[in-house]
Amino acid sequence: MKPAPKTFAVKSFGCQMNAYDGDRMAELMTAQGLTAADPASADLVVLNTCHIREKATEKVYSDIGRIRKDAGKLGRAPMIAIAGCVAQAEGAEIVRRAGVDVVVGPQAYHNLPDLVAKAARGESALDTDMPVETKFAHLPGRRRVGPSAFLTVQEGCDKFCTYCVVPYTRGAEVSRPRGQIVDEAKALVDAGARELTLLGQNVNAWEDGARGLHHLIAELDKIEGLARIRYTTSHPNDMAQGLIDAHRDVGKLMPFLHLPVQSGSDRILKAMNRSHSRDSYLRLLERVVAARPDIALSGDFIVGFPGETDADFAETLSLIDAVGYAQAFSFKYSPRPGTPAAGMADQVEPHVMDERLQQLQAALNRDQAAFNANTFGRSCQVLIERKGKLPGQMLGKSPWLQSVHLLTDAPIGALVEVDIVRGDPNSLSGVERIKIAA
Ligand code: SAH
Ligand code: SF4
Ligand code: F3S
Repeated sequence: MKPAPKTFAVKSFGCQMNAYDGDRMAELMTAQGLTAADPASADLVVLNTCHIREKATEKVYSDIGRIRKDAGKLGRAPMIAIAGCVAQAEGAEIVRRAGVDVVVGPQAYHNLPDLVAKAARGESALDTDMPVETKFAHLPGRRRVGPSAFLTVQEGCDKFCTYCVVPYTRGAEVSRPRGQIVDEAKALVDAGARELTLLGQNVNAWEDGARGLHHLIAELDKIEGLARIRYTTSHPNDMAQGLIDAHRDVGKLMPFLHLPVQSGSDRILKAMNRSHSRDSYLRLLERVVAARPDIALSGDFIVGFPGETDADFAETLSLIDAVGYAQAFSFKYSPRPGTPAAGMADQVEPHVMDERLQQLQAALNRDQAAFNANTFGRSCQVLIERKGKLPGQMLGKSPWLQSVHLLTDAPIGALVEVDIVRGDPNSLSGVERIKIAA
């Protein structure tokens, strides 16, 4: 038994949706009267975990150890709650292995206060249910957010790529009701957001009957005070023409598309169960670029999927050359328990994966540097998100999601018209023209 906590800390380790969930859990505990504190001194530490690769999962266990040690030095023993995708995947196993107090899955965290109360009474506190009625209706309203905020509109995945745990940890594809989303969007704007990033494991699979994501975007476009709309992550097979057209027609929709492809080899795409080909992906991007010629493209890549040969990998490099990504994420394949790929023959040697990842990242870095260099000499709007390191310097984002440094007295949350005067590999520098809105 542990006394009921008065202070809490939430640490998030995963994707943007994991970060969103972390914020919502923090809001929930605040609404219960708890005060946010440092992880070292909090009575309750919530570890909001990620299961996507082995490294991410193992980190949970080392973190539990470190939190106990740090708190122990101060003579404390905080209540530890494991939330997120590892909680969903491992459930009671975490209690056995690490003796934590609470385990709560990503679809059940609205029950966190009840679980904490149970744990305080010394009862077992584990909830990994995936209820039909979603958690969202049970969460408190949004109060205070930065200029750029996340908003979950869709969760879960029905695609079952053979390497991936997400369909198991997040469950089936579910779209949040449109009215609920619009209400949350308005609340976020009232709370200070100028930009909303709509989130979903397959965000472009969002639907309301026959209406797809572009209908939702058109509705959000009408919200006064909202300046920018983004969405992530999309699956190539859910990329409807209406959504592509929205990149041409909807002023607030930013010219950026994150569209993971994973590999450029049809043989590997098939083994991954991606259900699109190299060619269908490239043709899709052609339509996107036709609708919005300046669009910045982003993707995800996996190197070393079982059976990947040098020739397969060369196809991935050539796809990268063909697309010219503005930025991208790349990962070494990590076998995940319970996924079909983990049992496949021809697992690729670690040193081969290392070499391929290096080559891939060199290609992606080259293209990112070229994209940024191309922004030199353009003018664009920058949304100011935070203070920079130098006096008077602020940091914001371009429409193409690049970080921009500039000297300005515009406050956080302002949209500033900027001339880009430097395009470095990882960021841009700009000079302010006129203030559009404060
Ligand atoms: N459709 C989801 C995917 C989430 S996982 C989304 O895009 O948000 C994000 C990325 O992690 C995937 O696109 C993939 O590139 C990578 N990934 C997923 N499972 C992996 C594994 N077992 N090993 C290595 N990388 C993986
Ligand atoms: Fe995972 Fe594939 Fe679903 Fe993305 S589409 S979450 S990679 S199974
Ligand atoms: Fe990780 Fe779960 Fe997101 S596994 S990537 S936190 S959906």
